[in-house]
Amino acid sequence: MISSIQQYIDKIQALIQSQSDEMLLLKQLTPITKQLAQTQQCPKVDENTIDTGMDYQLFPLFEGENHGLFITLISWMPGSTTPIHNHNTWALVTGIIGTETNTLWRAVTPVVYEGEVELEEDKTIAVSPTTVLTLGSDAIHCVKNLTNEPTLSLHIYGKNPYFTQRSQFLPEQQLAIPF
Ligand SMILES: [Fe+2]
Repeated sequence: MISSIQQYIDKIQALIQSQSDEMLLLKQLTPITKQLAQTQQCPKVDENTIDTGMDYQLFPLFEGENHGLFITLISWMPGSTTPIHNHNTWALVTGIIGTETNTLWRAVTPVVYEGEVELEEDKTIAVSPTTVLTLGSDAIHCVKNLTNEPTLSLHIYGKNPYFTQRSQFLPEQQLAIPF
């Protein structure tokens, strides 16, 4: 049973070393991520420290060598939306406070970092404290806070997405641009 963030980091690093198949790794990380999110020891943010003047705010918890294994809390303000984007690395997301709406998109032409890409909307998943959303390296999504309160969620990335050459997608123009 996971009872601290350090125990979670140790466990996740061991699983990354032993499991090279991304889908199987995400499957193995799901129950321990749920355990961490549900323990009293799960890092949280005092709601008074959330800057409601921003669309969203990151509260990084851990970053491994060469930006590998990045764990962060993220708060989204009411009404805020991310661009449609990929991460170019695997990710897990679980809710801590409130419910975020994730919309997943499917690429119907090959994905490029910058250039022509055609997308179609796939499905919408509500991420609350009982949900663990897994996103493979090729996943494309956007996040919306459709509620009236700031949300807080825990994000675990195979690599810090600020260093993964991720793209933003504009489905109407059928375009990918650097994000
Ligand atoms: Fe994302």
